[in-house]
Amino acid sequence: MKDEQFSPASRLQESEQRYQEIIEGASDLIQSIRPDGTFEFVNRSWHKALGYGEDELAGLVIWDVIHQDRLEECQIHFMQVMQGIDLENIRVDFRHKDGSKVPCEGSAHSRFVDGQLIATHGFFRDISERLNSERLATENRKLEEAERARYQEKMAALGKLSAGLSHELNNPAAAASRSARNVTQALQARDALQRQLLEQGISLENWAAIESLGTWCEEQRRVVSEISTMDANRREEAIGSWLEEHQVAEAWSYAQPLMSADVTVDRLADLAAALPAEALEPAVGWIAESLSVQESLDVVSRSTGRISQLVAAVKSYSFRDQAQVQDVDIHEGIENTLVILAYQLKGIDIVKDFDRSIPPVRTYGSGLNQVWTNILDNAADATGKSGRVTITTRREGDRAVVEITDTGGGIPEEVLPRIFEPFYTTKPQGSGTGLGLDIVWRIVTEEHGGTITAESEPGRTTFSIAVPVCPDVRDTSSS
Ligand SMILES: Nc1ncnc2c1ncn2[C@@H]1O[C@H](COP(=O)(O)OP(=O)(O)OP(=O)(O)O)[C@@H](O)[C@H]1O
Ligand SMILES: [Mg+2]
Repeated sequence: MKDEQFSPASRLQESEQRYQEIIEGASDLIQSIRPDGTFEFVNRSWHKALGYGEDELAGLVIWDVIHQDRLEECQIHFMQVMQGIDLENIRVDFRHKDGSKVPCEGSAHSRFVDGQLIATHGFFRDISERLNSERLATENRKLEEAERARYQEKMAALGKLSAGLSHELNNPAAAASRSARNVTQALQARDALQRQLLEQGISLENWAAIESLGTWCEEQRRVVSEISTMDANRREEAIGSWLEEHQVAEAWSYAQPLMSADVTVDRLADLAAALPAEALEPAVGWIAESLSVQESLDVVSRSTGRISQLVAAVKSYSFRDQAQVQDVDIHEGIENTLVILAYQLKGIDIVKDFDRSIPPVRTYGSGLNQVWTNILDNAADATGKSGRVTITTRREGDRAVVEITDTGGGIPEEVLPRIFEPFYTTKPQGSGTGLGLDIVWRIVTEEHGGTITAESEPGRTTFSIAVPVCPDVRDTSSS
């Protein structure tokens, strides 16, 4: 059928109906406002988005449905449209019937008849979802950045630790290999002296006298006797002079090991009396070289022991990273951290006041080692490696409390409230990321359900960490 078949009146009606349906069916919010602010018309999407029923429209003016956050901005827009200015891409926040904000974006135009303003028309799109996803994306980006920064801080901390550790491992390793070389040299020297004695044809009794003093020296060496340096020098001098008087060529290199084994001039005189004169020098040498072998072996044993201790601490320190939930003696982690940080803490007097009866605490994720590490690292920076750090532990009800106090310069009053903020640092650029205490705070509070506080005055800064003791222990102690 063609349009001409209909009367102008029905064509007009049909056209009117068509536009009505298009407008009603649109997903955008469409509104027509009279100059006095009352509503001439709104579509279904408008009702749906703002929650008002059709019967409520007559009692509303446009300002009832604009959120107060954008009221002023919208009043300006309305005035502009009333003056015949078309507005595109404007932001409007509508106010839902329940008071919530409905963020929209759209355009507004005016309708004039014979030069007179009849109404303003607005077409708006609800952009809540878009804003939400933009907000989520921004939050995600921030979280990712913070996560990355935290990871970098961990890596930097690891770098610092491994630098300190390699230094710590290097010292005993070097001492052990130096001492192992000494053992070889001392054994060769001792063999040569033994041969000399055999060539001199010493008797079994002579040999027994030498061995007996050697054994006695060996035993004495193990007894740690505290003598002053002055005393030691005096004794060494006496032995050296006596040996010189008795034509011992290496008098002064033998004097020190003999002195440290508590040998006196009288004992040397007894030995001399029991031997042919020419046997004295190789005999004393044999004893001194034997002592030197023992001394070097002691160093090897101490050094390798220290290496094992460091390796065990590292193992225990890093294994925590893998286990999820563990009940641990809080002191174990503190001790391991002290071993690992030994290099950074060099020169600082560490005072431990531990209540070893504290029950185990339940640790999660990477445990509390990073907490001790970061606080001790800060303390080392604050004391300039020459003060004192006191670590106290005690039980307070269901909590294990650890207090770490340093004698550094203290935290200024204006800095104190900010120290747990991420990226807050007062250290020169490049030397601190400001994430140390942020990580500490997260581990203590979020991961372990504990608390952490800091108090400071010049010369005294205390961090107090309280974490719950293992739940099983709590249960049994309360029943
Ligand atoms: N024991 C302390 N004595 C004095 N000031 C401290 C002490 N501990 C922390 N602070 C202050 O708190 C700030 C933040 O510490 P945080 O450990 O978070 O970062 P940082 O040590 O500066 O850097 P990072 O730990 O990443 O190397 C420090 O810059 C310092 O000003
Ligand atoms: Mg720090």
